Amino acid sequence: MTGYWTGRKVLLTGATRGIGRAMAEQLVAEGATVLGVARNVAALDGMTRRLGSRFDGLEADLGDPEIPRGVVNWVADVHPDCSVLINNAAVMSYPLLADGGNHDAGIEEEVRINLIAPMQIATALLPRLAARSGARIVNVTSGLAVAPKTDAPIYCATKAGMRSFTRSLRYQAEDAELRIGICEALLPAVNTSLSRGRAERKMAAPEAAAAILAGAEAGRPEIWIGKTRLLRKVMRLSPALGHLIMRRIEA
Ligand SMILES: NC(=O)c1ccc[n+]([C@@H]2O[C@H](COP(=O)([O-])OP(=O)(O)OC[C@H]3O[C@@H](n4cnc5c(N)ncnc54)[C@H](OP(=O)(O)O)[C@@H]3O)[C@@H](O)[C@H]2O)c1
Repeated sequence: MTGYWTGRKVLLTGATRGIGRAMAEQLVAEGATVLGVARNVAALDGMTRRLGSRFDGLEADLGDPEIPRGVVNWVADVHPDCSVLINNAAVMSYPLLADGGNHDAGIEEEVRINLIAPMQIATALLPRLAARSGARIVNVTSGLAVAPKTDAPIYCATKAGMRSFTRSLRYQAEDAELRIGICEALLPAVNTSLSRGRAERKMAAPEAAAAILAGAEAGRPEIWIGKTRLLRKVMRLSPALGHLIMRRIEA
């Protein structure tokens, strides 16, 4: 890395476990300060103990409709010099939507956490971030944003939504001549609690984190990571084949 992260303040959702935690550790090692958001206070306290004053944690449930505005206000009031947002927190459920049951609550919660909250935080923070040099918004998605699998329909829909939103937000920022890189990081299966019990060959979380941060530093609009690069090629050659492969994938 080139010193891009040194002295930078980074708002990172889902900073306590998995890929988010690995990003937090790498960012602090690079001299950044991480503004970490998660629900579990003990885990946030643990991050502060390990990373010291370079980690400031905020207990917040992104599934609560009031919370995105609270996160934005916290940044504005306490960390106005923040210049990077990484929308990383997400959940994945495995509902059988064809079972005739009522799935309203589960759909609403997953869409709030994975799609509505990151869209609201990105939109509200956009002008503030863009006022600082080297600003970035990084939205973490998945190969499942490109082609969905069978057993996580809500998750796949939210990631496809984030993929579309990231592109449109980039267009609008360009039209408004805002100086900010708006990036989508597409991940393959990564070894974290989110994918526990799923695919056998998974990327390690620190490797995924490093790839996201390198792509963000370079300001790449789309950061295709690991096996998602192969998926991109397959989708170009034969979308039908790509969808067939992803339909039953354990990721
Ligand atoms: N793991 C994979 O195979 C994989 C593949 C492709 C894409 N991704 C993407 O990578 C990102 C990180 O996933 P991961 O695998 O690292 O997940 P993870 O290990 O389950 O960690 C999720 C993080 O998000 C936080 N979080 C979850 N729900 C939240 C809520 N309602 N409000 C605030 N924070 C919340 C969690 O902390 P608390 O529980 O304390 O809130 C935790 O810090 C996600 O966007 C995911 O979609 C993962």
